[in-house]
Amino acid sequence: MGNPLRTAQDRRLPRIPEPCALVIFGVTGDLSRKKLIPAVYDLANRGLLPPGFVVLGFARRDWGDGDFESLAYEAAKKGARTPWREDVWQRLASQFQFIPGSFDDDTAFDTLASTLDELRERNGIAGNAAFYFSIPPAAFPLVLNQLNRTGMADNAKSGGWRRVVVEKPFGNDLQTAMALNKLVDEVFTPQDVFRIDHYLGKETVQNILALRFANSLFEPVWNSKYVDSVQITMAEDVGIGTRAAFYDSAGAARDVLQNHLLQLLALVGMEEPTSFDPNEIRAEKLKVLKAISLPQNIAEGSVRGQYLQGWVAGERAVGYLEEKGVPAESTTETYVAVRLGIQNRRWAGVPFFVRVGKRMPRRVTEIAILFKRAPHLPFDPADVEMLGNNQLVIRVQPDEGVVLKFGSKVPGTTMEVRDIAMDFQYGEAFTESSPEAYERLVLDVLVGDRTLFPDAAEVEQSWRVIDPLEEAWAGTGPERYRAGEWGPRASDEMLAREGRAWRRA
Ligand code: BG6
Repeated sequence: MGNPLRTAQDRRLPRIPEPCALVIFGVTGDLSRKKLIPAVYDLANRGLLPPGFVVLGFARRDWGDGDFESLAYEAAKKGARTPWREDVWQRLASQFQFIPGSFDDDTAFDTLASTLDELRERNGIAGNAAFYFSIPPAAFPLVLNQLNRTGMADNAKSGGWRRVVVEKPFGNDLQTAMALNKLVDEVFTPQDVFRIDHYLGKETVQNILALRFANSLFEPVWNSKYVDSVQITMAEDVGIGTRAAFYDSAGAARDVLQNHLLQLLALVGMEEPTSFDPNEIRAEKLKVLKAISLPQNIAEGSVRGQYLQGWVAGERAVGYLEEKGVPAESTTETYVAVRLGIQNRRWAGVPFFVRVGKRMPRRVTEIAILFKRAPHLPFDPADVEMLGNNQLVIRVQPDEGVVLKFGSKVPGTTMEVRDIAMDFQYGEAFTESSPEAYERLVLDVLVGDRTLFPDAAEVEQSWRVIDPLEEAWAGTGPERYRAGEWGPRASDEMLAREGRAWRRA
């Protein structure tokens, strides 16, 4: 992926950003500690950060640079993907600075602005800075207004580039997303806005495009003539952890269906882009998102669930309502299954079953393309009893790879045919390990490559899918499932009504 104007020779050279600063708002939070700081260390360790690179942490803590550095040290050491090298860390951390302040604190933002000015000379960053919003969505407008007030979002004024990275959830529904898009595009130049969806940073997700468009084998059968249905599953064994405040007001549909899952669906459903130019890829994804249809009867074509106490991987798990910080009468869903469609010639009549859930038996994200049965089977029916649909399964995580399932003769004197699997696993096929999603995406922001970032129109189209679901569900209670089960029974029944079943993921 990347700029198509770069020559093949260029592309193999590492992409090193221009000298710049990364400003992290909410630097003491979960995302920053678990993902961003380790990603920055891994990039430094791979030699991909520019000279003079500086991290400015901003948060409401009465801290100095030393406190920040020790938090960052713990976080990087714990979350690093690449081997630990103390000298790399020391060099990186010597350029860390902490700015204490709340988002309504004008003085703190003035200090941030003057610090960036000083760094222009001192670190030679020429005014280049990316602002990462690792903060609650409610605080986005406040911080955007501060960046506007101080002129920090202004490219011309800074003398370099100014970019903003906005974490999901991007809005709470179509209306709030549109208002936020308007605000962020007013404060920053639209091409400097990076809406992050970390699923697009995963190698296996980018491989969907390689699999489809670098081969001649799959594309001819990638349509309603051969595909019976598609199942997209994102199952997590974990619960909501310490995120009750956010999660209870969002629920599974807003948390991951609106973004990660619909992006996966768009990549599976899209037409071939004319090139790998970011705009071309986005244009094709957008067409799919626009063509998504909801079930005619949402009550029948979707299921919401909430986990009860149970056992996951041999450990007792409390129910959602017993989780710390969740109101006792909460009806928020921790599971969603929905039957979507794509209204275009390629996909007419093919159901896309999408399910997401917390406290499932295990962590697995996969996309399964289930092909139609052969139109004629010249076998004794007893010999093909164990033959299912041919399936192409893209394993997003874990055990990253692609599995092709098809029928094969069982050795012996009869013509018995049974499903077998042909398995491609990243771990075996490649010696290189995959970069973490955030590692890839932070680097993309710093080099200014927007290929893997959804744009405003995509975000808005995704809410167009979610809003009617939320409306139809309003005032209804979720179905229950035990922690450690594959969702509520109603979800199996939804598929059974049309003679289908969920794949055993
Ligand atoms: C986040 C969601 O976007 O993705 C979380 O907010 C979820 O609820 C997480 O746990 C899953 O990410 P991954 O990369 O572990 O599949």
